[in-house]
Amino acid sequence: MSVESIPVKHGTIVAGREMPEFSRIGVEPITGACGAEISGVDLSKPLSDEVLREVMTAFEHFLVIMFRDQDITVEQHKAFSRIFGELTELPQAPTYAGHADMQEVRREAHEPVSVVPFTKFHTDSPFLPRPPLCMVMRALEAPKYGGDTAFANMYLAYEELSEGLKETLSRLKVVYSGKDIWCQNAKLDKDKQLRLREGHSFTEDQLESVHPAVRTHPRTGRKAVYVTGAYFKGFEGWSMDDSRSLLDYLAHMPHKLQYQCRIRWKKDTVIVWDNRFLQHCGIHDYQDERRHLIRTTIIGERPI
Ligand code: CO
Repeated sequence: MSVESIPVKHGTIVAGREMPEFSRIGVEPITGACGAEISGVDLSKPLSDEVLREVMTAFEHFLVIMFRDQDITVEQHKAFSRIFGELTELPQAPTYAGHADMQEVRREAHEPVSVVPFTKFHTDSPFLPRPPLCMVMRALEAPKYGGDTAFANMYLAYEELSEGLKETLSRLKVVYSGKDIWCQNAKLDKDKQLRLREGHSFTEDQLESVHPAVRTHPRTGRKAVYVTGAYFKGFEGWSMDDSRSLLDYLAHMPHKLQYQCRIRWKKDTVIVWDNRFLQHCGIHDYQDERRHLIRTTIIGERPI
């Protein structure tokens, strides 16, 4: 007795969607949740249209893409960054080597963890009217062990919520403000202070924004939780007391391992991460070593 089996073509699901096919670049997913290591690409040179299309597909699908051994100049770094959009300055992040449109994350071997902002999961600069779409970051120096950056896929977090909470969040807006970070920082003891940018040309209006708690990808329509404790001033129309318990619940979501991947830095590792649909945090599990990362920031759309 034989049973005719009909071959069914099942796509592999990774990062919550069917794995795209790639023919020009190597794409190795890092976890089932997000992140992919890309091979066969030299970022010091302009990318061909076919390679560019696949890199953009990988970025959209995996949200964080990583390239090893990219010994590139600052100008090559900026040129690669521009394929994702227009570079923007940030009011608060320290700049790198006199480049107003590049930032650095630097912790010297003797410095405490408190010199770098946000060692909890967060999205960067949500107080801006058009917060960053993505960052392109390269390691100049990384600890021998440790100092990874962790990412959490906030689409997956949203998709697992109950319909009731999705409904509640769909009507909620969040007030984010970066207005007081300099004066809050100045109140801290010198050895507890963050390294912040000295001056900037942003107006007060540009340092506070109200954004939806659920953010929608403008092309695909996919939705993600867009709530973080960083710069959080409350849900619109809610008191801080009322806001806090829901914030605590939502801010805990990126801690679930099944939403995460981690990037292990090595010198000349370059990553691009989507700051809209991922949350991230640096892991300061090392001591007495220097960690120096430089990056560009690409301006995003007004959150919808
Ligand atoms: Co950050």
